[in-house]
Amino acid sequence: ASTVALIPAAGRGERLGAGLPKAFVDLAGHSMLHRAVRGVQASGVVEHVVLSVPTGLVDQVRTDFPEVTVVAGGAQRGDSVRAALAAAPAADVVLVHDAARCLTPPTLFVSVVEAVLAGAHAVVPGTPVTDTIKSVDPAGVVTGTVDRTSLRAVQTPQGFDFDVLTSAYASADADFTDDAGLVESHGVAVHTIAGDPLAFKITTPWDLRLASWLLADEAR
Ligand code: C5P
Repeated sequence: ASTVALIPAAGRGERLGAGLPKAFVDLAGHSMLHRAVRGVQASGVVEHVVLSVPTGLVDQVRTDFPEVTVVAGGAQRGDSVRAALAAAPAADVVLVHDAARCLTPPTLFVSVVEAVLAGAHAVVPGTPVTDTIKSVDPAGVVTGTVDRTSLRAVQTPQGFDFDVLTSAYASADADFTDDAGLVESHGVAVHTIAGDPLAFKITTPWDLRLASWLLADEAR
């Protein structure tokens, strides 16, 4: 079976405040984008990678990753995934993976692909929520306590039957933040598998420090 991986990397990274698009921020000598692409390739289960990057960086990224398809991303993450999907060669399985989750262990890609090949149409890695979660009103007053045993914080890579993701995007309308959410809204059962703490998303300066510490620890 063949697998293609789409990596949206066209975000502006405003919450990170590094002054350049997030995926291009340096992390211990390599950009997040470089680390994400190499992580996907190291899994050994992906035949082809498609990146969506900010428009002005397409040429540079094509030079840096000659083996990869590079397209311009869009205003929202969903637009960037859509652009990558349109440029992807047909395959059996498609993975969608945030460049910002660049420390994801290669084994997680293997687990997601295996779960799709075992018959799930949509698979996401997720971790149990450890904090107690409260709902609040606009003034910040607690209105309830959510039962966290039924919650999962979901990560990427998210894996799909290629045809399931393609048809979901063909009739996508509302705004959605993850691809599983889109597929869910089309009535497809989304399965969860065990996620990995290292698949965390680098969003804030704190996350970037955490990632640097983890890499420094690894180098020792
Ligand atoms: O903004 P956030 O951290 O949720 O973005 C998740 C991933 O989606 C990042 O890798 C980011 O580069 C990508 N993205 C994108 N196009 C956008 C917004 C985000 O490719 N317009």
